[in-house]
Amino acid sequence: MTETLTCPAGGGQSLPEYPMPRAAQCPLAPAPTAQELRAEKPVTKVRIWNGGTPWLITRHADQRTLLTDSRVSDDDLDPGFPYVNAHRAMIAPVSPRMITNTDAPEHTRLRRTVNGPFVVKRIEKMREPIQKIVDDLIDEMLAGPASADLLKALALPVPSLVIAELLGVPYKDHDFFQTSSSTVLDSSVAPEKAREVSGALAAYLDKLLGEKLENPGDDVLSEMGGRVKAGEMSRTEAVHMGVAMLIAGHETTATMISLGTLALLQHPEQLALLRETDDPKVVANAVDEVLRYLTIVQTGVRRVAKADIEIGGVVIKAGDGMIFDLHAANWDPEAFPEAQRLDLTRQARTHQAFGYGPHQCLGQNLARLELQVVYSTLYRRIPTLRLDAALEDLEFDHTGTTYGVHSLPVAW
Ligand code: HEM
Repeated sequence: MTETLTCPAGGGQSLPEYPMPRAAQCPLAPAPTAQELRAEKPVTKVRIWNGGTPWLITRHADQRTLLTDSRVSDDDLDPGFPYVNAHRAMIAPVSPRMITNTDAPEHTRLRRTVNGPFVVKRIEKMREPIQKIVDDLIDEMLAGPASADLLKALALPVPSLVIAELLGVPYKDHDFFQTSSSTVLDSSVAPEKAREVSGALAAYLDKLLGEKLENPGDDVLSEMGGRVKAGEMSRTEAVHMGVAMLIAGHETTATMISLGTLALLQHPEQLALLRETDDPKVVANAVDEVLRYLTIVQTGVRRVAKADIEIGGVVIKAGDGMIFDLHAANWDPEAFPEAQRLDLTRQARTHQAFGYGPHQCLGQNLARLELQVVYSTLYRRIPTLRLDAALEDLEFDHTGTTYGVHSLPVAW
């Protein structure tokens, strides 16, 4: 796809609005204005939905410097925090303190209670179960008509079945778990319905945690149960953490399966590299490159300054909000030459699609493994897979936390 080479330049207004629109003809590229700012004003003020004017940081190197600076905070109770939307601003004061809204040392303590199951060695043990989940879903696709919505047939079920496996949800409850988690995360579902279903899911996880406290197994809920017993975390914290894992890991991974497939179908020569290799290292590298290229978290990582910070000749004042546009950083030519090219052979591991610093994605090893299994299975088992719609007819989600498609019609 050569589209990215001809993407237009951005607007050039004095205080740009954030988020910034993408160019319609380049649906997979970062917003042109964000790219222009990266080149000309890499640390600059923008205006957000509530009139706030946080700093926008677009360069790969600047993001690394700031996201590991202890003066840069994730405290969403700070009045300067640049909330993503009105809903997030409303729930911040009533949200429990979790890994997603605390700084060291509290963040370090909380993160330690959940880190264990997500280290590479533990996650790698899930390769076989994940392979079975993916194979079973592809068997179902192949048993039906030679067309499907890839989102419903594969992309959404994979992460919810995997999280169910990880948390130790009994197989008989998989249908309930998968249907409820899909409903909670479906943006077309009415908010009241989503609240009702998420309440049922939390109640379900709480009951399951109770059972694991009595009868522990080899799963994440049992492990958290052990920490509850040891007084290291409360039962409510453990249930909240279970729901957070489900929410943080579901739509993101599903999007990387559907949008990733779209990107690969648009680049047949790259897809061929993936289809023809049986080298796990090549597949792992390909997954990181697709993560870099798409950088699906489109709302930016949000922080607030706890003290004055000087960077690139600019002073970010204490109390100023900050937004880190991950996609602009992952297309920074200083970090990735010819960043606009999807090149599955490039060394892409230093990308920031999972963020950077102490809050870097807890589930990244799991997400990588799920994507490695899907990317190394789907295109081999269905080599004639093709997009069953015109690119311009696909509906992209420009407002969610992750940038994706509402459905991905495919045929074979
Ligand atoms: C391709 C899939 C995924 C992407 C692109 C992604 C992206 C991200 C990003 C950018 C952050 C950083 C947020 C920040 O710094 O404020 C993050 C944090 C997080 N992610 Fe993921 N994620 C993915 C999958 C998962 C999975 C599978 C799980 C869990 C099972 C998960 C759980 C979390 C949690 C709990 C955090 C918060 C960590 C903290 O604040 O210390 N994510 N993710």
